[in-house]
Amino acid sequence: MSEEKTVTVDATAEKTYLTFENVKSHTTQDDLWMVIHGKVYNCTKFIDEHPGGEEVLLDVGGMDATDAFEDVGHSEEARKILDELCIGELDPSEVVSSAKSPSTSDGSKQPPSGGSGFFSYIAIAAGVLAVGYYAYMQSLGGSKSTTGSPI
Ligand code: HEM
Repeated sequence: MSEEKTVTVDATAEKTYLTFENVKSHTTQDDLWMVIHGKVYNCTKFIDEHPGGEEVLLDVGGMDATDAFEDVGHSEEARKILDELCIGELDPSEVVSSAKSPSTSDGSKQPPSGGSGFFSYIAIAAGVLAVGYYAYMQSLGGSKSTTGSPI
């Protein structure tokens, strides 16, 4: 039986798990936390030094800033700084909601069945109409100019 609920995951360092509830109350210039890739960062000391300005950091304070961080295409250097600011991890049960990174490989991407059949039916109908219309116009024009005067 294993009924213990310890959060020790690493052999050397204990991981601190935090919830969004913990994170979302740290949104000010003097106390700014954010979540990036499931980890919690205390960016308070970094606000003044951020090359992208303090405004953008404050915008995502207390929130999941993964998309904002990745959209900018931050360098390796920026990721090293991140490491230093890490104060814990998001509780695994909450990571699910923020782990919805670009899902490109969903596997089954099949067109709705029946769609192509309907399409070809429309195409054939359109073709028949076009030919009919063309023939009709031809007969109108022809009867006027060429075979219009049967004298
Ligand atoms: C604690 C998290 C963050 C760290 C450690 C960080 C660090 C850095 C660093 C080191 C740079 C310089 C360029 C580079 O090395 O990539 C930078 C640039 C920038 N960052 Fe961040 N950043 C963080 C979060 C964010 C967030 C959440 C945004 C939101 C949009 C953001 C927006 C920007 C922008 C726009 C620049 C470009 C500045 C420019 O090139 O003029 N950063 N950041």
